[in-house]
Order: sequence, then structure tokens, then C-alpha cells
Amino acid sequence: MFKINENYLKLPGSYLFSTIGKKVAAFTEANPDKPIIRLGIGDVTQPLAPAIIQALHSAVDEMGRAETFHGYAPDLGYSFLRETIAREDYEAKGCQIGADEIFVSDGAKSDSANIQEIFSNDCKIAVCDPVYPVYVDSNVMAGRTGTYDPKTEMWSDVIYMPCTKDNDFVPELPKETPDLIYLCYPNNPTGSALTKEQLQVWVDYANKNGSVIIYDAAYEAYISQENVPHSIYECPGARTCAIELRSFSKNAGFTGTRLGFTVIPKELMCGEVSLHSLWARRHGTKYNGAPYIIQKAGEAVYSAEGKAQLKEQVAYYMKNASVIYQGLKDAGYDVSGGINAPYIWMQTPKGMGSWEFFDYLLEKANVVGTPGAGFGPSGEGCFRLTAFGTYENTVAAMERIKQL
Ligand SMILES: Cc1ncc(COP(=O)(O)O)c(C=O)c1O
Repeated sequence: MFKINENYLKLPGSYLFSTIGKKVAAFTEANPDKPIIRLGIGDVTQPLAPAIIQALHSAVDEMGRAETFHGYAPDLGYSFLRETIAREDYEAKGCQIGADEIFVSDGAKSDSANIQEIFSNDCKIAVCDPVYPVYVDSNVMAGRTGTYDPKTEMWSDVIYMPCTKDNDFVPELPKETPDLIYLCYPNNPTGSALTKEQLQVWVDYANKNGSVIIYDAAYEAYISQENVPHSIYECPGARTCAIELRSFSKNAGFTGTRLGFTVIPKELMCGEVSLHSLWARRHGTKYNGAPYIIQKAGEAVYSAEGKAQLKEQVAYYMKNASVIYQGLKDAGYDVSGGINAPYIWMQTPKGMGSWEFFDYLLEKANVVGTPGAGFGPSGEGCFRLTAFGTYENTVAAMERIKQL
């Protein structure tokens, strides 16, 4: 008789956004006359920029002609894209990352979930709390997290690093030394950012303790302040301790198109073994490459027109971020984030639980946000709103919230 991977049974409840989806569906069914404004899930709403659409069209045409048809993509991505990324995202920022250290993928979600596979099962992970749920859940599936305590909502073998208002959403170095440290900056869900000096502390810590940092920079396009690094490789020493994950979802609207990449510097070693070679082996075995047409679209993100159009798109969302930030402040809430990230993080009023506030906002304002508790125990008492809606909806949502 076959057996299942019982680690899956340890996962508590359903995935955060499925729970929200079900609640919203039930509300809409019961109240068809009340239009909902969704500022919950971090999905974008602006269409793909014209430069990207043009690249897609011409790549589709190439696929229709025998002489320009493309079959399986190279495992690690087409060199036209990897070289562009190396030049535009790294060399231009003073980072030393070669095209052959970049692995093109279908997005940062899968990479952030899959990367743990190249590490031993007894590695101890450390995560910020609250956190993007994929990091913990993928380690649960691998059996790396111990047992779950429903009371504390914590796993026995995970090191939690609280990021709260009290520490300005910057985690403190953990007392127990982790093997793998997940950091996401600019941060989902708190919308906070680390300065280069603050990130350097983590790089030095990881090098000193033999830990690996898995640095999720999915939101780097939203950085507006000078001293906030776009890549962990801006910090000296990161080449020997950090893996970086990037996404085309939030800077270029590829949430439905799917494209991302992972950087593993060749100096990142475990004894004699390079993590780069392990990930190359994994990628080559389990992944057949992002589609040619999508990689061509990705290349267009870096063209002069693409860059100009996407700068406008990011500015559009960040205008929403300031509408939300200011709107909530005017309504008397305690707010943070929204400066280097498209997320605004607020403390729930009058000691309300974060799911209680979710229901309150849904019922009274017909606005959907995300309860902080869904991102980890330290998210209790907090709530996330995203800047990814349309400007009109964002303004309307704030009007509704101000009238509560
Ligand atoms: C921190 C973080 N990483 C990764 C992702 C997913 O990125 P992708 O669309 O490239 O899979 C998200 C999406 O919301 C995210 O918030």
C-alpha cells in the first residue's frame, strides 16, 4: 500500500488567500448589490506595458516560422535574457554577478518554495514574523519544521524573528544560529525596507556563522529611498552567503505571464560543494525552462521604452500607496510601509483581532484587505492593504474607510 508525504497533513488550514477568497465569495453571494473593492491579494491590475506586448507579438510570430521557431529553452534560461539581467540589474548597480550565475524561472514563488530542496533536511530555518507564507509552508512539506502548536501558531523547529512596530519591522539577530535565513526586502507584508547598513549586518552574520541568506527581492522596483539596497549583492561579502530571488511580477506585471530568476554566486559553497552546481542540477532535472516568448517579453522590460513605461507603472501604484497611507492616517490609524514597497501595514483599532478587522472592513466598507495574522503570529493585531488596485478603486476604498 502506498503512503503519502505526511508532512502535508501537518499544514494548518488552507492557504491564506484561499481562505480570504472563500470569505469574499460568501459575502458577494449574500450581498450581490454591494460592490467589493479588493486591496487584499498582491496581484497587479495594470495591463502589460506596450513594449512588452510588442516583444510578445514578435516572439509569437517567430514561433510560427520554421527558421525562427524555438523548442525547449536552455535549462538555465536564454543568454539574451541572462546577459541583460546581469548588466541591467547587477553591473549597473555595482554588483559583481555574472550571466552564468542567473537561473531564469517561472517566478519567485516557485523558486522560494523549491530552493530549500538543495539543503539538508536537518537545516534549521529562520523567518521573519510576519512573513510571506511560502517560505514556511514549503519547509513544512519537506519535513523541516517540527510540530505545529495551534495555540502559538508556531512550528517547534522554526526560528521566528518578530518584526513589529517595536523594532521598526527590522528583525534582530536570532539567539539560536539558523542554517537558512529567509529575508524579504522590501518586505511583504509589512512594507518596510532595510538600509544597506542594516542588510550588511545580516551578511556579516551569515558569513561568520556559516548560514545562507535566501534574499527575496521581488519588490525591489518599489524602492524610492537612496540608502535602500536593490540587491543583497550591494553588500560586500554577500557572494559567499546569499542567494537572491527576483520576480517580473511586480515590476512589470508578469503575475499571469510568469517569469523570475534566482541568483547563486559561484563562491557560495558548502565545503567543497557549490550551491550553484546543485541548483543547476536541480533546475536541469526538474524544470524545462520559461517559454521563449516570455523570456523575450522579459528582455523588453530592460529596453529604453520598457524601462520608461514601467517606471510610470510603478509610479502609478506608488501614488495609490500614498493615497492609502494618507487616507488611513487621516482616519486615525497607526500606519507604516508604502514608501519603498506597495504594501501598507496598519495596526488594527481598539485591540481588534486581525481576522475580526477583516470581517469588519468587508461588511462595513466592502473593502478586502489581508489580516496580519495570516502571515504569522506577530502579524496579529495588524492588517495589510495593497497599492495594486486601480487609482479610482483605491480612492473609493479610502473614502469608505474614512466614513466608518
Ligand atoms: C515576497 C514575495 N515573493 C514572491 C512572490 C511571488 O512572485 P512570483 O509572482 O514571481 O511567483 C510574492 C508574491 O506576492 C511575494 O510577495
